[in-house]
Amino acid sequence: MLSYDEAIESVVFTELEIAATVDRMAAELGRLCAGEAVLLVGVLKGALFFTADLARALTRLEDGPSEIRMDFLAVSSYGNSNRTSGEVRLLKDVAESVEGRNVVIVEDIVDNGLTLAYLQGLLGGRHPASLRTCVLLDKPFHRTVDVPIDVLGLEAPDAFIVGYGLDYQERFRNLPYLAKLQASIFAE
Ligand code: IMP
Repeated sequence: MLSYDEAIESVVFTELEIAATVDRMAAELGRLCAGEAVLLVGVLKGALFFTADLARALTRLEDGPSEIRMDFLAVSSYGNSNRTSGEVRLLKDVAESVEGRNVVIVEDIVDNGLTLAYLQGLLGGRHPASLRTCVLLDKPFHRTVDVPIDVLGLEAPDAFIVGYGLDYQERFRNLPYLAKLQASIFAE
């Protein structure tokens, strides 16, 4: 198995760039839901750190949401390949009812869009008062379904990205920055 140093080709976004992006996104989201009680729904496991950082950045705003609650759901991700198949499976549902709530889906990355389309359909069908979507990274190159995104962070290169919660076969989530993997890792 390749070590972290061998597996990483380059840093795509540094810790500082991520932190500045999360602050900017919190300010945008805070304007959209100023004075509202919001329920952030983080998508596990990839959006774990992003949801935590976004929640705290929203809390620091002067005119942001009046209340912030957090819940999580989990969906199946790539498994052993590096692109989703189209079949999205719900592995863990939210614990709270979303009916009548101001819900914000907090997702790490959008590639073909199928995961987000599934989540928007799932939560939108439960009659929230509002449903917004906040995505840290966009890979617009292979989109197969059009998904509305209210607050977007950064455009990622057309490559497999790991770190800051994003994994490849459960590795690399713990990296504090976002990085591009060496192509050779997919041949392992
Ligand atoms: P989509 O269904 O193709 O839009 O993919 C979305 C999901 O696939 C995300 O929630 C991620 O879990 C995963 N994913 C997509 N691109 C990457 C990547 O570059 N690195 C790690 N995970 C990714």
